[in-house]
Amino acid sequence: MHLSEKPLIPEAVIQERVNELAKEVSHDFAGHDLLVVSVLKGAMIFAADFVRRLDLKAKLEFARVKSYVGTESSGKLDFMHLPEEPITGKYVLLVEDILDTGRTAAALRAHFEAEQPARLAFCTLLDKPATRVVPVTAEYVGFSVEDRFVVGYGLDCDEHYRHLPDIWTLEPDEETPSN
Ligand code: IMP
Ligand code: MG
Repeated sequence: MHLSEKPLIPEAVIQERVNELAKEVSHDFAGHDLLVVSVLKGAMIFAADFVRRLDLKAKLEFARVKSYVGTESSGKLDFMHLPEEPITGKYVLLVEDILDTGRTAAALRAHFEAEQPARLAFCTLLDKPATRVVPVTAEYVGFSVEDRFVVGYGLDCDEHYRHLPDIWTLEPDEETPSN
Protein backbone atom coordinates (compact mmCIF):
# COMPACT_ATOMS: atom_id res chain seq x y z
CA MET A 1 0.00 0.00 0.00
CA HIS A 2 1.14 3.55 -0.68
CA LEU A 3 -0.11 7.09 -0.08
CA SER A 4 -2.41 8.71 -2.62
CA GLU A 5 -0.84 11.24 -4.99
CA LYS A 6 -2.54 14.17 -3.29
CA PRO A 7 -3.92 14.52 0.24
CA LEU A 8 -7.61 13.71 0.63
CA ILE A 9 -7.93 16.56 3.16
CA PRO A 10 -5.08 19.11 3.20
CA GLU A 11 -3.74 20.53 6.46
CA ALA A 12 -5.28 24.01 5.93
CA VAL A 13 -8.74 22.52 5.38
CA ILE A 14 -8.39 20.35 8.51
CA GLN A 15 -7.28 23.32 10.60
CA GLU A 16 -10.19 25.46 9.39
CA ARG A 17 -12.68 22.72 10.27
CA VAL A 18 -11.08 22.15 13.70
CA ASN A 19 -11.57 25.90 14.35
CA GLU A 20 -15.25 25.63 13.42
CA LEU A 21 -15.80 22.55 15.60
CA ALA A 22 -14.16 24.23 18.61
CA LYS A 23 -16.34 27.30 18.07
CA GLU A 24 -19.48 25.17 17.87
CA VAL A 25 -18.60 23.18 21.02
CA SER A 26 -17.64 26.38 22.91
CA HIS A 27 -21.04 27.84 22.01
CA ASP A 28 -23.01 24.69 22.91
CA PHE A 29 -21.27 24.18 26.27
CA ALA A 30 -21.03 27.88 27.21
CA GLY A 31 -21.07 28.42 30.98
CA HIS A 32 -19.90 24.87 31.77
CA ASP A 33 -16.54 23.32 32.50
CA LEU A 34 -15.82 20.74 29.82
CA LEU A 35 -14.12 17.40 30.38
CA VAL A 36 -12.55 16.44 27.06
CA VAL A 37 -11.75 12.73 26.76
CA SER A 38 -9.43 12.00 23.86
CA VAL A 39 -9.40 8.43 22.60
CA LEU A 40 -5.85 7.14 22.14
CA LYS A 41 -3.94 6.92 20.04
CA GLY A 42 -5.69 8.15 16.90
CA ALA A 43 -7.46 11.24 18.26
CA MET A 44 -4.39 12.64 20.00
CA ILE A 45 -3.32 15.06 17.25
CA PHE A 46 -6.86 16.23 16.54
CA ALA A 47 -7.61 16.68 20.27
CA ALA A 48 -4.39 18.65 20.77
CA ASP A 49 -5.39 21.16 18.09
CA PHE A 50 -9.06 21.18 19.11
CA VAL A 51 -8.63 21.90 22.84
CA ARG A 52 -6.32 24.83 22.12
CA ARG A 53 -9.13 26.53 20.23
CA LEU A 54 -11.84 26.06 22.89
CA ASP A 55 -13.24 29.17 24.50
CA LEU A 56 -14.22 27.31 27.69
CA LYS A 57 -12.71 26.06 30.93
CA ALA A 58 -11.64 22.55 29.98
CA LYS A 59 -9.81 19.55 31.38
CA LEU A 60 -8.13 16.95 29.20
CA GLU A 61 -8.30 13.23 29.89
CA PHE A 62 -7.58 10.10 27.85
CA ALA A 63 -9.18 6.75 27.16
CA ARG A 64 -7.58 3.82 25.40
CA VAL A 65 -9.65 1.05 23.89
CA LYS A 66 -8.42 -2.15 22.30
CA SER A 67 -10.52 -4.30 20.05
CA TYR A 68 -9.86 -7.99 19.63
CA VAL A 69 -8.88 -8.60 16.02
CA GLY A 70 -9.74 -12.32 16.09
CA THR A 71 -13.26 -11.80 17.40
CA GLU A 72 -14.33 -8.88 15.26
CA SER A 73 -17.96 -9.97 14.98
CA SER A 74 -18.38 -10.08 18.75
CA GLY A 75 -17.25 -6.45 18.87
CA LYS A 76 -15.52 -7.16 22.17
CA LEU A 77 -13.56 -4.19 23.45
CA ASP A 78 -11.15 -3.78 26.31
CA PHE A 79 -10.63 -0.48 28.14
CA MET A 80 -6.88 -0.17 28.63
CA HIS A 81 -7.04 3.28 30.20
CA LEU A 82 -9.88 5.44 31.50
CA PRO A 83 -9.98 9.00 32.86
CA GLU A 84 -8.73 9.56 36.40
CA GLU A 85 -11.26 12.38 36.84
CA PRO A 86 -14.76 11.28 37.96
CA ILE A 87 -17.36 11.57 35.18
CA THR A 88 -20.54 11.81 37.27
CA GLY A 89 -22.23 15.19 36.93
CA LYS A 90 -19.65 16.48 34.41
CA TYR A 91 -20.05 17.91 30.94
CA VAL A 92 -18.11 15.37 28.88
CA LEU A 93 -16.96 15.44 25.26
CA LEU A 94 -15.53 12.23 23.81
CA VAL A 95 -13.07 12.98 20.99
CA GLU A 96 -12.34 10.27 18.40
CA ASP A 97 -10.37 10.13 15.17
CA ILE A 98 -12.86 8.18 13.04
CA LEU A 99 -16.25 6.49 13.28
CA ASP A 100 -16.14 3.32 11.21
CA THR A 101 -18.26 0.32 12.29
CA GLY A 102 -19.28 2.33 15.34
CA ARG A 103 -18.32 -0.42 17.79
CA THR A 104 -15.72 1.67 19.61
CA ALA A 105 -18.02 4.69 19.85
CA ALA A 106 -20.96 2.58 21.06
CA ALA A 107 -18.83 0.92 23.77
CA LEU A 108 -17.39 4.26 24.87
CA ARG A 109 -20.79 5.94 24.95
CA ALA A 110 -22.29 3.07 27.00
CA HIS A 111 -19.39 3.11 29.44
CA PHE A 112 -19.51 6.87 30.00
CA GLU A 113 -23.34 7.10 30.10
CA ALA A 114 -23.29 4.55 32.94
CA GLU A 115 -21.22 7.02 34.99
CA GLN A 116 -24.08 9.53 34.69
CA PRO A 117 -22.45 12.66 33.33
CA ALA A 118 -24.54 15.86 33.25
CA ARG A 119 -24.16 15.76 29.47
CA LEU A 120 -22.24 13.53 27.08
CA ALA A 121 -21.43 14.36 23.48
CA PHE A 122 -19.27 12.69 20.86
CA CYS A 123 -16.96 14.54 18.51
CA THR A 124 -15.22 12.71 15.67
CA LEU A 125 -12.84 14.18 13.14
CA LEU A 126 -13.94 11.74 10.43
CA ASP A 127 -17.08 9.73 9.85
CA LYS A 128 -17.50 6.80 7.44
CA PRO A 129 -21.30 6.38 7.52
CA ALA A 130 -21.25 3.68 4.80
CA THR A 131 -19.41 1.17 7.01
CA ARG A 132 -21.54 1.50 10.14
CA VAL A 133 -22.51 -1.80 11.82
CA VAL A 134 -23.68 -0.46 15.19
CA PRO A 135 -26.16 2.43 14.90
CA VAL A 136 -24.25 5.24 16.56
CA THR A 137 -23.90 8.89 15.58
CA ALA A 138 -21.70 11.77 16.67
CA GLU A 139 -23.00 15.19 17.66
CA TYR A 140 -19.93 16.78 16.07
CA VAL A 141 -18.37 15.54 12.83
CA GLY A 142 -15.37 17.13 11.13
CA PHE A 143 -15.67 15.46 7.73
CA SER A 144 -17.77 12.68 6.28
CA VAL A 145 -15.61 10.42 4.09
CA GLU A 146 -16.18 7.54 1.70
CA ASP A 147 -15.26 3.96 2.58
CA ARG A 148 -11.52 4.34 1.95
CA PHE A 149 -8.68 3.64 4.37
CA VAL A 150 -7.29 6.97 5.51
CA VAL A 151 -4.09 7.86 7.34
CA GLY A 152 -2.34 10.94 8.70
CA TYR A 153 -3.22 13.58 11.31
CA GLY A 154 -3.23 10.89 13.99
CA LEU A 155 -4.65 8.04 11.92
CA ASP A 156 -2.40 5.07 11.28
CA CYS A 157 -1.84 1.93 9.29
CA ASP A 158 0.18 -0.45 11.47
CA GLU A 159 1.31 2.59 13.50
CA HIS A 160 2.73 4.40 10.47
CA TYR A 161 1.69 7.83 9.11
CA ARG A 162 0.23 9.28 12.32
CA HIS A 163 2.61 12.27 12.21
CA LEU A 164 1.57 13.53 8.76
CA PRO A 165 -0.14 16.97 8.87
CA ASP A 166 -2.58 16.13 6.02
CA ILE A 167 -5.06 13.25 5.68
CA TRP A 168 -4.30 10.78 2.86
CA THR A 169 -5.89 7.66 1.47
CA LEU A 170 -3.90 4.44 1.18
CA GLU A 171 -3.92 2.93 -2.31
CA PRO A 172 -3.07 -0.67 -3.24
CA ASP A 173 0.29 -1.16 -5.00
CA GLU A 174 0.30 -2.05 -8.72
CA GLU A 175 0.67 -5.77 -9.34
CA THR A 176 4.23 -6.50 -10.42
CA PRO A 177 4.17 -9.12 -13.19
CA SER A 178 5.83 -12.34 -12.10
CA ASN A 179 7.76 -14.33 -14.68
P1 IMP B 1 -14.90 1.30 14.80
O1 IMP B 1 -15.00 0.73 16.17
O2 IMP B 1 -15.03 0.27 13.73
O3 IMP B 1 -15.82 2.49 14.56
O4 IMP B 1 -13.41 1.71 14.62
C1 IMP B 1 -12.89 2.86 15.02
C2 IMP B 1 -11.38 2.73 15.01
O5 IMP B 1 -10.89 1.95 13.89
C3 IMP B 1 -10.79 4.10 14.84
O6 IMP B 1 -10.63 4.71 16.10
C4 IMP B 1 -9.50 3.80 14.12
O7 IMP B 1 -8.49 3.52 15.05
C5 IMP B 1 -9.77 2.57 13.31
N1 IMP B 1 -10.06 2.92 11.89
C6 IMP B 1 -11.22 2.76 11.22
N2 IMP B 1 -11.14 3.18 9.95
C7 IMP B 1 -9.88 3.65 9.80
C8 IMP B 1 -9.17 4.24 8.69
O8 IMP B 1 -9.68 4.46 7.57
N3 IMP B 1 -7.88 4.59 8.95
C9 IMP B 1 -7.27 4.40 10.15
N4 IMP B 1 -7.90 3.85 11.20
C10 IMP B 1 -9.20 3.48 11.04
MG1 MG C 1 -8.40 4.77 17.07
